[in-house]
Amino acid sequence: MKKKLKTSRRRFVAAAAATTGLAAAATFVPARFAIGARAPVKIGVLLPFGGVYAMLGNSITDAMKLRIELAGGKLGGRDIEYVIVDSEWTPAKAPLKAKKLVSKDRVDFVVGPVHSGIAMAMSTVLRPRKLPIWIIPNAGNNKLTRELCAPHIFRTSFTNWQSAHVAGQLMANEGIKTAVTCTWKYAAGTQMMEAGKASFEKAGGKVIKELWVPFPDVEFQAYLSEIAALKPDAVFSFYSGGGAVKFVKDYAAAGLKDKIPLYGPGFLTEGATKAQGDAAEGIKTALHYADNLDTKEDNRFRAAYKKATGKDPNVFSVQGYDTGSLLLQAMAAVGGDAGAREEIIDVMETATFYDSPRGVWKMSKAHNPIQDIYIRRVEEGRQIKIGMGAEQLEDPATGCKMS
Ligand code: PHB
Repeated sequence: MKKKLKTSRRRFVAAAAATTGLAAAATFVPARFAIGARAPVKIGVLLPFGGVYAMLGNSITDAMKLRIELAGGKLGGRDIEYVIVDSEWTPAKAPLKAKKLVSKDRVDFVVGPVHSGIAMAMSTVLRPRKLPIWIIPNAGNNKLTRELCAPHIFRTSFTNWQSAHVAGQLMANEGIKTAVTCTWKYAAGTQMMEAGKASFEKAGGKVIKELWVPFPDVEFQAYLSEIAALKPDAVFSFYSGGGAVKFVKDYAAAGLKDKIPLYGPGFLTEGATKAQGDAAEGIKTALHYADNLDTKEDNRFRAAYKKATGKDPNVFSVQGYDTGSLLLQAMAAVGGDAGAREEIIDVMETATFYDSPRGVWKMSKAHNPIQDIYIRRVEEGRQIKIGMGAEQLEDPATGCKMS
Protein backbone atom coordinates (compact mmCIF):
# COMPACT_ATOMS: atom_id res chain seq x y z
CA MET A 1 0.00 0.00 0.00
CA LYS A 2 3.01 2.32 0.18
CA LYS A 3 3.22 5.04 -2.43
CA LYS A 4 5.63 7.97 -2.67
CA LEU A 5 4.10 10.69 -0.60
CA LYS A 6 4.69 14.22 -1.70
CA THR A 7 4.96 16.47 1.36
CA SER A 8 7.25 16.26 4.36
CA ARG A 9 4.23 15.76 6.61
CA ARG A 10 3.24 12.82 4.48
CA ARG A 11 6.74 11.45 4.80
CA PHE A 12 6.58 11.77 8.56
CA VAL A 13 3.23 10.06 8.72
CA ALA A 14 4.27 7.23 6.40
CA ALA A 15 7.44 6.65 8.37
CA ALA A 16 5.57 6.60 11.68
CA ALA A 17 3.07 4.11 10.38
CA ALA A 18 5.71 1.96 8.74
CA THR A 19 8.07 1.72 11.67
CA THR A 20 5.73 1.20 14.55
CA GLY A 21 2.58 -0.12 13.00
CA LEU A 22 -0.95 1.16 13.20
CA ALA A 23 -0.77 2.25 16.83
CA ALA A 24 2.13 4.63 16.20
CA ALA A 25 -0.11 6.98 14.35
CA ALA A 26 -1.68 7.89 17.69
CA THR A 27 1.17 10.32 18.28
CA PHE A 28 0.01 12.64 15.51
CA VAL A 29 -2.57 15.17 16.70
CA PRO A 30 -4.85 16.78 14.14
CA ALA A 31 -4.58 20.57 14.33
CA ARG A 32 -8.15 21.24 15.23
CA PHE A 33 -8.12 19.34 18.53
CA ALA A 34 -6.07 20.09 21.65
CA ILE A 35 -3.90 17.29 23.01
CA GLY A 36 -5.99 15.05 25.22
CA ALA A 37 -9.23 16.18 23.63
CA ARG A 38 -9.26 14.37 20.31
CA ALA A 39 -12.81 13.82 19.21
CA PRO A 40 -13.75 10.36 18.00
CA VAL A 41 -13.68 9.60 14.29
CA LYS A 42 -17.27 9.56 13.10
CA ILE A 43 -18.34 6.86 10.69
CA GLY A 44 -21.77 7.14 9.17
CA VAL A 45 -23.11 3.67 8.37
CA LEU A 46 -26.06 3.61 5.97
CA LEU A 47 -27.11 -0.01 5.54
CA PRO A 48 -30.30 -2.10 5.59
CA PHE A 49 -31.24 -3.56 8.98
CA GLY A 50 -34.74 -4.69 8.01
CA GLY A 51 -36.38 -6.23 4.93
CA VAL A 52 -34.88 -8.64 2.40
CA TYR A 53 -31.33 -7.28 2.78
CA ALA A 54 -31.18 -7.14 6.61
CA MET A 55 -28.75 -10.09 6.74
CA LEU A 56 -26.39 -8.22 4.42
CA GLY A 57 -26.40 -5.00 6.47
CA ASN A 58 -25.81 -6.87 9.71
CA SER A 59 -23.00 -9.00 8.25
CA ILE A 60 -21.16 -5.95 6.89
CA THR A 61 -21.51 -3.94 10.10
CA ASP A 62 -20.48 -6.79 12.41
CA ALA A 63 -17.37 -7.61 10.38
CA MET A 64 -16.26 -4.01 9.88
CA LYS A 65 -16.41 -3.44 13.64
CA LEU A 66 -14.68 -6.77 14.27
CA ARG A 67 -11.76 -5.89 11.97
CA ILE A 68 -11.21 -2.60 13.77
CA GLU A 69 -11.59 -4.20 17.22
CA LEU A 70 -8.99 -6.83 16.29
CA ALA A 71 -6.57 -3.99 15.49
CA GLY A 72 -7.10 -2.29 18.84
CA GLY A 73 -10.44 -0.56 18.35
CA LYS A 74 -9.09 2.79 17.13
CA LEU A 75 -8.49 4.54 13.82
CA GLY A 76 -5.21 6.40 13.65
CA GLY A 77 -5.19 6.45 17.44
CA ARG A 78 -8.66 7.95 17.75
CA ASP A 79 -11.76 6.41 19.24
CA ILE A 80 -14.66 5.73 16.89
CA GLU A 81 -18.26 6.82 16.96
CA TYR A 82 -20.57 4.95 14.61
CA VAL A 83 -23.69 6.77 13.44
CA ILE A 84 -25.84 3.87 12.29
CA VAL A 85 -28.79 4.59 10.02
CA ASP A 86 -31.18 2.08 8.49
CA SER A 87 -31.13 2.66 4.73
CA GLU A 88 -34.38 0.66 4.41
CA TRP A 89 -34.82 -0.86 0.96
CA THR A 90 -35.85 1.80 -1.53
CA PRO A 91 -33.91 4.77 -2.87
CA ALA A 92 -36.54 7.44 -2.07
CA LYS A 93 -35.30 8.41 1.40
CA ALA A 94 -31.58 7.85 0.76
CA PRO A 95 -30.60 11.40 -0.26
CA LEU A 96 -32.11 12.85 2.91
CA LYS A 97 -30.47 10.21 5.08
CA ALA A 98 -27.08 10.85 3.43
CA LYS A 99 -27.53 14.62 3.80
CA LYS A 100 -28.25 14.26 7.51
CA LEU A 101 -25.07 12.19 8.02
CA VAL A 102 -23.00 14.84 6.28
CA SER A 103 -24.57 18.10 7.46
CA LYS A 104 -25.98 17.31 10.88
CA ASP A 105 -23.86 14.42 12.17
CA ARG A 106 -20.77 15.73 10.35
CA VAL A 107 -19.34 12.27 9.81
CA ASP A 108 -15.74 11.79 8.62
CA PHE A 109 -16.56 8.75 6.48
CA VAL A 110 -19.73 7.27 5.01
CA VAL A 111 -19.98 3.47 4.73
CA GLY A 112 -22.89 2.11 2.67
CA PRO A 113 -25.11 1.00 1.04
CA VAL A 114 -26.07 -2.56 0.00
CA HIS A 115 -28.50 -1.63 -2.79
CA SER A 116 -27.42 -0.30 -6.19
CA GLY A 117 -30.41 2.04 -6.51
CA ILE A 118 -29.80 3.48 -3.06
CA ALA A 119 -26.15 3.99 -4.02
CA MET A 120 -27.23 6.10 -7.00
CA ALA A 121 -29.57 8.12 -4.78
CA MET A 122 -26.80 8.68 -2.21
CA SER A 123 -24.42 9.76 -4.95
CA THR A 124 -26.55 12.82 -5.69
CA VAL A 125 -25.55 14.09 -2.24
CA LEU A 126 -22.09 12.61 -1.72
CA ARG A 127 -20.53 12.79 -5.17
CA PRO A 128 -20.50 16.59 -5.61
CA ARG A 129 -18.77 17.01 -2.23
CA LYS A 130 -15.10 16.42 -1.77
CA LEU A 131 -15.60 15.02 1.71
CA PRO A 132 -16.53 12.81 3.46
CA ILE A 133 -14.73 9.89 1.85
CA TRP A 134 -17.39 7.37 0.84
CA ILE A 135 -16.73 3.63 1.04
CA ILE A 136 -19.28 1.33 -0.61
CA PRO A 137 -19.12 -2.08 1.13
CA ASN A 138 -21.58 -3.82 -1.20
CA ALA A 139 -23.71 -2.01 -3.81
CA GLY A 140 -22.27 -3.09 -7.15
CA ASN A 141 -23.72 -0.37 -9.37
CA ASN A 142 -21.25 -0.30 -12.27
CA LYS A 143 -21.72 3.43 -12.80
CA LEU A 144 -20.10 4.50 -9.53
CA THR A 145 -16.71 3.19 -10.62
CA ARG A 146 -17.29 3.86 -14.32
CA GLU A 147 -18.72 7.13 -15.64
CA LEU A 148 -19.58 8.42 -12.14
CA CYS A 149 -16.26 7.52 -10.53
CA ALA A 150 -14.72 10.16 -8.25
CA PRO A 151 -11.55 10.53 -6.16
CA HIS A 152 -13.41 10.21 -2.84
CA ILE A 153 -15.61 7.22 -3.81
CA PHE A 154 -14.20 3.76 -3.04
CA ARG A 155 -15.69 0.29 -3.18
CA THR A 156 -14.55 -2.76 -1.17
CA SER A 157 -17.00 -5.17 -2.80
CA PHE A 158 -17.46 -5.69 -6.58
CA THR A 159 -19.14 -4.27 -9.63
CA ASN A 160 -22.33 -5.93 -10.78
CA TRP A 161 -20.43 -6.83 -13.95
CA GLN A 162 -17.66 -8.86 -12.28
CA SER A 163 -19.19 -12.10 -10.99
CA ALA A 164 -22.10 -12.02 -13.47
CA HIS A 165 -19.63 -11.91 -16.37
CA VAL A 166 -17.94 -15.05 -15.02
CA ALA A 167 -21.25 -16.77 -14.21
CA GLY A 168 -22.40 -16.30 -17.83
CA GLN A 169 -19.20 -17.96 -19.04
CA LEU A 170 -19.66 -20.78 -16.53
CA MET A 171 -23.11 -21.54 -17.92
CA ALA A 172 -21.75 -21.74 -21.47
CA ASN A 173 -18.80 -23.88 -20.36
CA GLU A 174 -21.27 -26.34 -18.86
CA GLY A 175 -22.83 -26.93 -22.25
CA ILE A 176 -25.95 -24.81 -21.70
CA LYS A 177 -27.35 -23.54 -25.01
CA THR A 178 -30.53 -21.69 -24.02
CA ALA A 179 -31.33 -19.73 -20.87
CA VAL A 180 -34.06 -17.64 -19.31
CA THR A 181 -33.01 -14.80 -17.03
CA CYS A 182 -35.13 -14.10 -13.95
CA THR A 183 -34.26 -11.31 -11.52
CA TRP A 184 -35.41 -8.27 -9.61
CA LYS A 185 -35.89 -5.26 -11.83
CA TYR A 186 -33.53 -2.65 -10.46
CA ALA A 187 -29.94 -1.64 -11.23
CA ALA A 188 -28.26 -4.69 -9.67
CA GLY A 189 -30.54 -7.12 -11.51
CA THR A 190 -30.40 -5.31 -14.84
CA GLN A 191 -26.61 -4.86 -14.77
CA MET A 192 -25.94 -8.46 -13.70
CA MET A 193 -28.30 -9.91 -16.32
CA GLU A 194 -26.70 -7.70 -18.98
CA ALA A 195 -23.20 -8.91 -18.05
CA GLY A 196 -24.19 -12.57 -17.78
CA LYS A 197 -26.14 -12.50 -21.03
CA ALA A 198 -23.24 -10.85 -22.88
CA SER A 199 -20.62 -13.42 -21.83
CA PHE A 200 -23.03 -16.34 -22.27
CA GLU A 201 -24.04 -15.26 -25.77
CA LYS A 202 -20.44 -14.44 -26.73
CA ALA A 203 -19.65 -18.08 -25.94
CA GLY A 204 -22.47 -19.27 -28.21
CA GLY A 205 -25.49 -19.42 -25.84
CA LYS A 206 -28.85 -17.72 -26.35
CA VAL A 207 -31.08 -15.98 -23.81
CA ILE A 208 -34.60 -16.79 -24.99
CA LYS A 209 -36.58 -14.76 -22.45
CA GLU A 210 -35.93 -12.15 -19.75
CA LEU A 211 -38.24 -12.19 -16.72
CA TRP A 212 -38.35 -9.17 -14.42
CA VAL A 213 -39.76 -9.19 -10.89
CA PRO A 214 -40.42 -5.88 -9.11
CA PHE A 215 -38.05 -5.30 -6.17
CA PRO A 216 -38.43 -6.43 -3.37
CA ASP A 217 -41.30 -8.78 -4.30
CA VAL A 218 -40.88 -12.45 -3.46
CA GLU A 219 -43.99 -13.83 -5.15
CA PHE A 220 -42.38 -15.98 -7.83
CA GLN A 221 -45.12 -18.45 -8.83
CA ALA A 222 -46.14 -16.80 -12.10
CA TYR A 223 -42.51 -16.57 -13.24
CA LEU A 224 -41.80 -20.18 -12.30
CA SER A 225 -44.79 -21.33 -14.34
CA GLU A 226 -43.48 -19.39 -17.31
CA ILE A 227 -40.03 -20.96 -16.92
CA ALA A 228 -41.58 -24.44 -16.80
CA ALA A 229 -43.45 -23.70 -20.04
CA LEU A 230 -40.41 -22.23 -21.82
CA LYS A 231 -38.19 -25.23 -20.96
CA PRO A 232 -34.77 -23.53 -21.32
CA ASP A 233 -31.57 -25.49 -20.66
CA ALA A 234 -30.92 -23.25 -17.62
CA VAL A 235 -32.09 -20.23 -15.62
CA PHE A 236 -29.75 -17.34 -14.81
CA SER A 237 -30.74 -15.30 -11.75
CA PHE A 238 -29.73 -12.62 -9.31
CA TYR A 239 -31.47 -12.58 -5.97
CA SER A 240 -29.95 -12.00 -2.56
CA GLY A 241 -30.76 -12.17 1.16
CA GLY A 242 -34.38 -13.01 1.95
CA GLY A 243 -35.28 -12.95 -1.76
CA ALA A 244 -32.63 -15.57 -2.56
CA VAL A 245 -33.90 -17.82 0.22
CA LYS A 246 -37.44 -17.65 -1.12
CA PHE A 247 -36.57 -17.94 -4.82
CA VAL A 248 -34.30 -20.97 -4.45
CA LYS A 249 -36.86 -22.74 -2.23
CA ASP A 250 -39.78 -21.93 -4.52
CA TYR A 251 -37.74 -23.06 -7.55
CA ALA A 252 -37.21 -26.48 -5.97
CA ALA A 253 -40.79 -26.71 -4.71
CA ALA A 254 -42.05 -26.04 -8.24
CA GLY A 255 -40.18 -29.15 -9.36
CA LEU A 256 -37.68 -27.25 -11.50
CA LYS A 257 -34.46 -27.93 -9.60
CA ASP A 258 -33.68 -31.30 -11.18
CA LYS A 259 -34.92 -30.36 -14.64
CA ILE A 260 -33.51 -26.87 -15.32
CA PRO A 261 -30.32 -25.95 -13.43
CA LEU A 262 -30.03 -22.54 -11.82
CA TYR A 263 -26.93 -20.39 -12.31
CA GLY A 264 -25.94 -16.87 -11.40
CA PRO A 265 -23.65 -14.66 -9.35
CA GLY A 266 -23.07 -16.35 -5.99
CA PHE A 267 -25.39 -13.96 -4.14
CA LEU A 268 -28.09 -16.52 -4.99
CA THR A 269 -26.89 -18.85 -2.24
CA GLU A 270 -24.53 -16.65 -0.20
CA GLY A 271 -25.44 -16.47 3.48
CA ALA A 272 -28.69 -18.23 2.60
CA THR A 273 -28.02 -21.97 2.48
CA LYS A 274 -29.07 -22.64 6.06
CA ALA A 275 -32.57 -21.41 5.25
CA GLN A 276 -32.58 -22.84 1.72
CA GLY A 277 -31.67 -26.36 2.89
CA ASP A 278 -31.76 -29.09 0.24
CA ALA A 279 -33.10 -26.65 -2.35
CA ALA A 280 -29.62 -25.07 -2.59
CA GLU A 281 -27.59 -28.27 -2.87
CA GLY A 282 -25.59 -28.52 -6.08
CA ILE A 283 -26.21 -24.96 -7.31
CA LYS A 284 -23.13 -23.60 -9.10
CA THR A 285 -22.33 -19.91 -9.00
CA ALA A 286 -19.45 -17.47 -9.42
CA LEU A 287 -18.30 -15.10 -6.68
CA HIS A 288 -15.25 -13.51 -5.04
CA TYR A 289 -15.48 -15.71 -1.95
CA ALA A 290 -15.99 -19.37 -1.00
CA ASP A 291 -16.22 -21.26 2.29
CA ASN A 292 -13.20 -23.52 1.75
CA LEU A 293 -10.42 -21.17 0.69
CA ASP A 294 -8.45 -22.48 3.65
CA THR A 295 -5.86 -19.71 3.78
CA LYS A 296 -4.28 -18.55 7.02
CA GLU A 297 -6.06 -15.19 6.67
CA ASP A 298 -9.47 -16.69 5.94
CA ASN A 299 -9.27 -19.28 8.71
CA ARG A 300 -8.36 -16.56 11.20
CA PHE A 301 -11.23 -14.39 9.99
CA ARG A 302 -13.78 -17.22 10.05
CA ALA A 303 -12.87 -18.21 13.59
CA ALA A 304 -12.93 -14.61 14.87
CA TYR A 305 -16.25 -13.86 13.15
CA LYS A 306 -17.86 -17.00 14.53
CA LYS A 307 -16.62 -16.18 18.02
CA ALA A 308 -17.87 -12.60 17.84
CA THR A 309 -21.26 -13.19 16.23
CA GLY A 310 -22.04 -16.90 16.68
CA LYS A 311 -22.55 -17.09 12.91
CA ASP A 312 -20.64 -18.37 9.91
CA PRO A 313 -19.30 -15.58 7.72
CA ASN A 314 -20.31 -14.81 4.14
CA VAL A 315 -19.12 -12.57 1.32
CA PHE A 316 -20.90 -9.58 2.85
CA SER A 317 -18.99 -9.95 6.10
CA VAL A 318 -15.77 -10.25 4.09
CA GLN A 319 -16.57 -6.93 2.41
CA GLY A 320 -17.28 -5.34 5.80
CA TYR A 321 -14.03 -6.74 7.18
CA ASP A 322 -12.06 -5.29 4.27
CA THR A 323 -13.82 -1.94 4.75
CA GLY A 324 -12.41 -1.97 8.28
CA SER A 325 -8.95 -2.74 6.84
CA LEU A 326 -9.18 0.14 4.39
CA LEU A 327 -10.14 2.58 7.17
CA LEU A 328 -7.32 1.29 9.39
CA GLN A 329 -4.68 1.61 6.67
CA ALA A 330 -5.72 5.10 5.67
CA MET A 331 -6.20 6.53 9.14
CA ALA A 332 -2.90 5.09 10.36
CA ALA A 333 -1.09 6.75 7.47
CA VAL A 334 -2.49 10.18 8.34
CA GLY A 335 -2.16 9.79 12.09
CA GLY A 336 -5.89 10.07 12.63
CA ASP A 337 -6.37 13.26 10.64
CA ALA A 338 -9.61 12.44 8.83
CA GLY A 339 -9.46 15.80 7.06
CA ALA A 340 -6.23 14.89 5.24
CA ARG A 341 -8.22 14.15 2.11
CA GLU A 342 -5.42 13.91 -0.44
CA GLU A 343 -3.30 11.66 1.74
CA ILE A 344 -6.21 9.37 2.56
CA ILE A 345 -7.10 9.08 -1.11
CA ASP A 346 -3.44 8.34 -1.93
CA VAL A 347 -3.35 5.48 0.55
CA MET A 348 -6.76 4.08 -0.36
CA GLU A 349 -6.22 4.04 -4.09
CA THR A 350 -2.91 2.24 -3.83
CA ALA A 351 -4.04 -0.18 -1.12
CA THR A 352 -3.38 -3.91 -1.44
CA PHE A 353 -5.28 -6.23 0.87
CA TYR A 354 -2.83 -8.97 1.72
CA ASP A 355 -4.86 -10.09 4.72
CA SER A 356 -8.28 -10.29 3.06
CA PRO A 357 -10.27 -13.47 3.71
CA ARG A 358 -11.20 -13.57 0.00
CA GLY A 359 -7.54 -13.71 -1.10
CA VAL A 360 -5.20 -10.89 -2.05
CA TRP A 361 -6.85 -8.04 -3.92
CA LYS A 362 -5.99 -4.50 -4.79
CA MET A 363 -7.83 -1.30 -5.51
CA SER A 364 -8.15 -0.42 -9.20
CA LYS A 365 -7.53 3.08 -10.56
CA ALA A 366 -11.31 3.45 -10.66
CA HIS A 367 -11.46 2.45 -6.94
CA ASN A 368 -13.01 -1.00 -7.29
CA PRO A 369 -11.47 -4.34 -6.23
CA ILE A 370 -9.30 -6.24 -8.70
CA GLN A 371 -9.98 -9.73 -7.41
CA ASP A 372 -10.23 -13.45 -8.06
CA ILE A 373 -13.66 -14.83 -8.95
CA TYR A 374 -14.24 -18.42 -7.85
CA ILE A 375 -16.57 -21.08 -9.24
CA ARG A 376 -18.44 -22.63 -6.33
CA ARG A 377 -20.95 -25.41 -5.76
CA VAL A 378 -23.18 -25.74 -2.70
CA GLU A 379 -22.28 -28.93 -0.83
CA GLU A 380 -23.92 -29.64 2.51
CA GLY A 381 -24.74 -25.98 2.86
CA ARG A 382 -21.21 -24.77 2.14
CA GLN A 383 -20.02 -22.78 -0.87
CA ILE A 384 -17.25 -25.07 -2.07
CA LYS A 385 -14.70 -23.66 -4.51
CA ILE A 386 -14.54 -26.09 -7.42
CA GLY A 387 -12.52 -23.97 -9.82
CA MET A 388 -11.16 -20.59 -10.73
CA GLY A 389 -13.52 -18.41 -12.77
CA ALA A 390 -11.13 -15.51 -13.34
CA GLU A 391 -7.86 -14.42 -11.80
CA GLN A 392 -7.55 -10.83 -10.59
CA LEU A 393 -10.51 -9.68 -12.65
CA GLU A 394 -10.75 -5.92 -13.13
CA ASP A 395 -13.95 -4.14 -14.10
CA PRO A 396 -13.51 -2.38 -17.47
CA ALA A 397 -14.27 0.94 -15.70
CA THR A 398 -15.56 2.36 -18.99
CA GLY A 399 -15.82 6.13 -18.88
CA CYS A 400 -14.09 6.66 -15.55
CA LYS A 401 -12.16 9.91 -15.54
CA MET A 402 -10.88 10.96 -12.14
CA SER A 403 -10.82 14.71 -11.78
C1 PHB B 1 -26.90 -4.35 -5.22
O1 PHB B 1 -28.01 -3.81 -5.15
O2 PHB B 1 -25.93 -3.81 -5.77
C2 PHB B 1 -26.70 -5.70 -4.63
C3 PHB B 1 -27.51 -6.13 -3.58
C4 PHB B 1 -27.31 -7.38 -3.04
C5 PHB B 1 -26.31 -8.19 -3.51
C6 PHB B 1 -25.49 -7.78 -4.55
C7 PHB B 1 -25.70 -6.53 -5.12
O3 PHB B 1 -26.12 -9.40 -2.98
